[in-house]
Amino acid sequence: MSSLSPSLSLSLSLSLSLSLSPAPPKFLRTPNDQTGVQGGVASFICQATGDPRPKIVWNKKGKKVSNQRFEVIDFDDGSGSVLRIQPLRTPRDEAIYECVASNTVGELSATTRLTVLREDQLPPGFPTIDMGPQLKVVERTRTATMLCAASGNPDPDISWFKDFLPVNTTNNNGRIKQLRSGALQIEQSEESDQGKYECVATNNDGTRYSAPANLYVRVRRVPPRFSIPPTDNEIMPGGSVNITCVAVGSPMPYVKWMLGAEDLTPEDDMPIGRNVLELTDVRQSNNYTCVAMSTLGVIEAVAQITVKALPKPPGIPLVTERTATSITLTWDSGNPEPVSYYIIQHKSKISEDTYKEIDGVATTRYSVGGLSPYSDYEFRVVAVNNIGRGSPSDGIEAKTAEQAPSTAPRQVRGRMLSATTAIIHWDEPEEANGQIMGYRVYYTMDSAQHVNIWEKQIVRGSNFLTIQGLIPNKTYYIKVLAYTSVGDGPLSADLQIIAKTGGKIWLFLFEPTTTYLLKDLKPFTTYTFQLAARSKHGIGAYTNEISAETPQTLFAKNFHVKAAMKTSVLLTWEIPDNYNAAQPFTILYDNGQSVEVDGKLTQKLITGLQAGTQYSFLLTNRGNSAGGLQHRVSTMTAPDILRTKPYLIGKTNLDGMVSVELPSVQTSEKVRGYYIVVVPLKKQRTGKYLKPWDSPDEMNLEELLKEINRTTRGLRFRRQAEPKAYIAAYFKDLPTEFTLGDTKIYGDFENKQLANGQEYIFFVLAVLEISENTMYATSPYSDPVVSADLDPQPIIDEEEGLIWVVGPVLAVVFIICIVIAILLYKRKRAESEARKGSLPNSKEIPSHNPTDPVELRRMNFQTPGMASHPPIPILELADHLERLKANDNLKFSQEYEVNMRLVSYLFAYLGQIGVIREGLMISIN
Ligand SMILES: *[C@@H]1O[C@H](CO)[C@@H](O)[C@H](O)[C@H]1NC(C)=O
Ligand SMILES: *[C@@H]1O[C@H](CO)[C@@H](O)[C@H](O)[C@H]1NC(C)=O
Ligand SMILES: *[C@@H]1O[C@H](CO)[C@@H](O)[C@H](O)[C@H]1NC(C)=O
Ligand SMILES: *[C@@H]1O[C@H](CO)[C@@H](O)[C@H](O)[C@H]1NC(C)=O
Ligand SMILES: *[C@@H]1O[C@H](CO)[C@@H](O)[C@H](O)[C@H]1NC(C)=O
Repeated sequence: MSSLSPSLSLSLSLSLSLSLSPAPPKFLRTPNDQTGVQGGVASFICQATGDPRPKIVWNKKGKKVSNQRFEVIDFDDGSGSVLRIQPLRTPRDEAIYECVASNTVGELSATTRLTVLREDQLPPGFPTIDMGPQLKVVERTRTATMLCAASGNPDPDISWFKDFLPVNTTNNNGRIKQLRSGALQIEQSEESDQGKYECVATNNDGTRYSAPANLYVRVRRVPPRFSIPPTDNEIMPGGSVNITCVAVGSPMPYVKWMLGAEDLTPEDDMPIGRNVLELTDVRQSNNYTCVAMSTLGVIEAVAQITVKALPKPPGIPLVTERTATSITLTWDSGNPEPVSYYIIQHKSKISEDTYKEIDGVATTRYSVGGLSPYSDYEFRVVAVNNIGRGSPSDGIEAKTAEQAPSTAPRQVRGRMLSATTAIIHWDEPEEANGQIMGYRVYYTMDSAQHVNIWEKQIVRGSNFLTIQGLIPNKTYYIKVLAYTSVGDGPLSADLQIIAKTGGKIWLFLFEPTTTYLLKDLKPFTTYTFQLAARSKHGIGAYTNEISAETPQTLFAKNFHVKAAMKTSVLLTWEIPDNYNAAQPFTILYDNGQSVEVDGKLTQKLITGLQAGTQYSFLLTNRGNSAGGLQHRVSTMTAPDILRTKPYLIGKTNLDGMVSVELPSVQTSEKVRGYYIVVVPLKKQRTGKYLKPWDSPDEMNLEELLKEINRTTRGLRFRRQAEPKAYIAAYFKDLPTEFTLGDTKIYGDFENKQLANGQEYIFFVLAVLEISENTMYATSPYSDPVVSADLDPQPIIDEEEGLIWVVGPVLAVVFIICIVIAILLYKRKRAESEARKGSLPNSKEIPSHNPTDPVELRRMNFQTPGMASHPPIPILELADHLERLKANDNLKFSQEYEVNMRLVSYLFAYLGQIGVIREGLMISIN
C-alpha cells in the first residue's frame, strides 16, 4: 500500500470518504532518520489516517517501546503520535524504530533509524543553538516572540515544538508564524498558547534541541471602570453637545447610553470602551446615563444636560420705605439659578411713557430716587442672567410721600364786590406735592412790612376768600400760599387790588418795559387798560383809559362732510352765536379751487369733482385768515359704480306705471343698499319741463338722505308745495328690471303711482360703506318719462298759486327797496358827520357797522323770528328768496315775514308809515 502513488491515494481517500466505507490506514507523515547528541533529545513523528482512525504504536526491535526515557505523545486531535527519547544514550538507543498504524481494516508500518553521537564525536558542521528561547510572560492578546538562533554547516533549518508536539504554523490563520530569523512569533496570544517551547535545529549532520523555555499567557481580570466619566453640561436652547464616556477593564467593557429606561445605543452595535453621545438642537434638560458592562460587572454614570433658560420673573416687589422723592423696594429673586443682576422698571402711573429702567442692580433691595413727591408710580423688576433678560415681575404701585408745595398758588386774582369787600380767587399750585390742607392769604396796605405782620386768613376746602372792611380807594397787596401736612409752600407774587367797585380789575406788575403782552383774554370782548408806574414810594397816576377789542376767533365750528357723492360733496358747519355773518366764507379745495359761501349759510354742495378721489376742503373766513383760523376736512368721493343710466323698456301705461331696465353694478365694495329716486320735473311757464341739473350729484340730496336715515315712516312731512323728489324703492341687491309707479312697498318706501301728465326723471342711488364716511354713488339720470295723459293740466296746487300772487308784489317791493337803499345811502353820506353819536345807544354799536339804521332797528327791536334770520344785503334779497323757495318753503314763509318787516322799517325810516306790525312806534330824530 505504501507504494501507491499520491494521486491514487488521494483519489482513494476521496472515494473512501465519499463512500464512508471503512478504509485501511494510510501514512500522512512518516518518521525521518535522525542523528542526535548524547544527553540530547530525539523526536519521531508519525501521522496516519484511515477509517476508523488508526491507532499508532511505536516498536523498537519488534517490541513496543517501554522505558522511562521513552515517551509517546499523541496529537491533540489524535491524528498522529510523537516518540520522544530523552536524554539520549549511546549506543543503547541506536536502533531501528517502527511506527505501526492499525485499524479494523488493516495495518501499516514505517521504520526509521536513530543515531546518537557523543559530544566529542560530533562532526564540525553539527548544529549548535547559539541562543535558545527564554522564559516569557505575555498579556493575553499581546504578541509573544520566542527567539532562537542556531548555526552549523550547512545552515540548519529551525522548527519548534510546544509541549513535545511539533508547532504547526499553517493551521492558525497566520496568528503563529516562524520568522525568517527562526524566531516564533505568536500574535493575539491566547491562553492555549501557554506552554513549554523548544527550538530544534536540523541539518545533514544531525539535530539539536534547545533548552525548553516556558511561555506564560497572563489573563487579567479587571472589572469595568470609567476612565473618562461623562461630564455635566449647560447649553443654550437649541445648542449641541458631545458627551464622551470612556470605560476600561479586562475584558474591555461595552459602553452604551440611556435616557431613562430608553436605550440610545443599538444593542447589536455597542461600541467597546468609548461611546460619544452627540446631541443636537437640545431643547430640554435631561439626565443621560452612560452604562459600561463586561462579564465582571455593570457600572453607570449620569451626565446632567441642563438647557439654560431666561430667568423667571422675580417676585412682586414690596415697598419697605418711602420718602417724598424715593421708594425703597425689596423683592424675591424667584430664580433657583443664579441671576446676573436685576433691572428695576418704573414709571409715573398717569404717564403714557414707557418704563424708565435702572440697570445692573445686584441686590434684591433698592432705593429708587429722583421721584416727584406725592405721585403714584408703578414698579416692576426684571431678572437678567447670561442668556438675557426674563419677563418682568408683576407690578406694584406706590405713592411717594408728601412734601410742602414747591410752587405758589396760580392765577391769584381779585375783584371788588363792593367798595370795601374784595373777593380773591386762586388756583391750586402746579406742584402741590401732596394733599393741600389749606391756603393762607396775606394782605396789607403797606407792602414794605414783613409778610409776618400782614393781615392773615386761613382758607380750607375752597379756592377763594372774601375780605371785608377794606378802606375804599386804597391799594392792597395780597399774597397766597398753599400748605400740606408737611409744610408751607412759597408765597405767590403780589396781587395789588384797589378797593374800588366797577368791573373786574386785574393788576399786572412787571419790570419797566415798553411793551407788554396780555394773555388769556376772551375773544370778541372789549377791554380797557390803564398804566401806572410804581416805585418804592408807591404808585403814580394812571394814564387815561384805552380800550381794545379782542378779535373774533371762532367763525365756524363742526365743519364736516355730510355726504360724499360721486362727483360732489355736501359740506356742513355751524355758526357760533357771536359770529358776525357779514363776512363770507371761502372753501378751498382741489389744489387751488375755491368757492365763496355766504356767511349765513351752514352748508355747501361742492360739485364737479372726480369719482373715487381723495379731497380736502378748507373752510376759511376771508376777513380773518391771517389768524390761521380755518377748518379742514378730507373725504373720498364715491366710486363710479353705476355707469349707465336706467333705460325705459316699454311705454308708460294709463295706470301710471312704466318698466325700466336698471343699470348694472360694477363694484367689489360693500354696498348697503340701492334706492330708486324719482324726480318730478317742474313745469315752466312755457309748458315745457325743466331739467334742473345735469347729474343727480348736483342736487342737494340732503332731504333724500334724511329719508334714507329715517326710522319711522309716519313722521314724514307730506304736505308739499310742489312735486318733490322721492324715494320709490329700496333694494339690498339691485334687480335688473323695475316697474315705476306700481304702488307697491319696496323696503318701506312707496313706489307711488306716477301722476298723470307729470314728467319725471329718475336715477339709482347706491349707499356704500367704504371709509368712516358713508358714500352715495348715483347713476346718471334716466331719460324723461311722462305718464300718458290725454288731457294735460298744469298741476298748480294752492300754495304754488299763492306764490304767483305774492311774487309780483314782492318784485315791486324789491324795486322800491333798491331805490330806497340808493337814496338812503346818498343822504346818509351827506349827514353822516353831523349825526355821529346822536343815535340812541351809539356807544354800544359795534364799530364795524355803526350807523346803518336797518341794523339799528334790528338790534333794538328784535323779534324772535328775526333772531334766526340774519340780515341780508338788499341787493341779495331777491336771489335769497328764490333760493329759499327752491329749497324750503317753510323757511321761506318765515323769512318772508321777517323781510317784509325790514321793508316796513325802511318805510318807517322815511317817515311815510308810522306804525308797523307788533305795535312798535318808530320816531326819527
Ligand atoms: C498543519 O495543520 C494543517 C491543518 O490542520 C494540516 O493540513 C497540515 O498537514 C499540518 N501540517 C503538519 C506539518 O502537521
Ligand atoms: C460632535 O462630534 C461630531 C463628530 O465628531 C462633530 O462633527 C461635531 O462638531 C461635534 N459637536 C460638538 C458640539 O462638539
Ligand atoms: C437630573 O438629576 C438631578 C440629580 O438627581 C435632579 O436634581 C434633576 O432634577 C434631574 N434632571 C432631570 C431633567 O431629570
Ligand atoms: C374814591 O375816588 C373816587 C374818584 O376816583 C371819588 O369819587 C370817591 O369820592 C373816593 N371815595 C372815597 C371814600 O374817598
Ligand atoms: C344718517 O345717519 C348716520 C348715522 O346715524 C349719520 O352719520 C349720517 O350723517 C346721517 N345722514 C344724513 C344725511 O342725515
